[in-house]
Amino acid sequence: MANEAGKVAVVGAGRVGSTFAYSLAASGLVREIVIADMDLARAEGEAMDIAQSVPFHRPVRISAGGLADAAGAVVTVITAGAAQRPGEPRTALVQRNVEAMRSILDQVVSANPDGLLLIATNPVDALTYAAIKMSRLPPGRVIGSGTVLDSARLRAELAAHYGVDARNVHAYVLGEHGDSEFVAWSTATVGNMRLEDYCVATRTSCEPAQMEQIGERVRRAAYEIIQRKGATNFAIAAALTRIIEAILRDEQSVLTVSTLVQGEYGLQDVCLSLPAIVGRNGVQQVLPVPLADGELAALRRSAEAIRGVTQRVA
Ligand code: LAC
Repeated sequence: MANEAGKVAVVGAGRVGSTFAYSLAASGLVREIVIADMDLARAEGEAMDIAQSVPFHRPVRISAGGLADAAGAVVTVITAGAAQRPGEPRTALVQRNVEAMRSILDQVVSANPDGLLLIATNPVDALTYAAIKMSRLPPGRVIGSGTVLDSARLRAELAAHYGVDARNVHAYVLGEHGDSEFVAWSTATVGNMRLEDYCVATRTSCEPAQMEQIGERVRRAAYEIIQRKGATNFAIAAALTRIIEAILRDEQSVLTVSTLVQGEYGLQDVCLSLPAIVGRNGVQQVLPVPLADGELAALRRSAEAIRGVTQRVA
């Protein structure tokens, strides 16, 4: 049985890292969380603050530490790095954030050679690829948050559009967690009905223009939020907690995490998001879901966009 009462290390005590640490503490999934940051006082402050919320949740030990304290963690979650400024694409962060990660990974992997890595720092696909190369861990054990958040944003939009429970909306955003991401409309269902069948059965609209507007709102979600509050943190923290849950409980859940594709759809040597089975050992298998021609073309464009970023830091 997978160790549910595991230890998770969070590297980066910024808005994403601290919000994720709180989300994980409140989830009851783990018994120990270590928060590491170059600014130890910041990490200590976040750990102290979250620890004082524990009486409202289930027991969990929260502490601040250094990268070596990732030892024994089932997963080390990398959130450290610069965040997008208003209007700035995620890809503009790649040089700074690859350097930041380079300084982190050696210590994390030597302290915890058997753990998994979950990358959240943007641009997450390029950073996941860099982490696989730098850590020399088996690719399945290095996962990026990818479009798990974007797929959730899409499901929330469709649930609102159709007036149904988001848990009965199954739809994927695939490819880059970024401007070249796309919606795999051909695979989307509501209550196990294809969208066009659901629309006919319930006399609701499936106008292509409306669907494209929904897709565009999902693609631009982070820009809109950052414009208003300066960063995103809550939804990404929930997405990271969901991925950790699938790992710790060995759920074999299908999640659109960023992973190294090795032949699927004729793609090689690039990290991007496809439906993947996630369990205790990370990504167990990528599911080559059938895609429409236009979606295959969008996936290839997205792979090229990511390669263009990855090559800048190879
Ligand atoms: C977002 C960040 C996590 O999409 O890239 O909110």
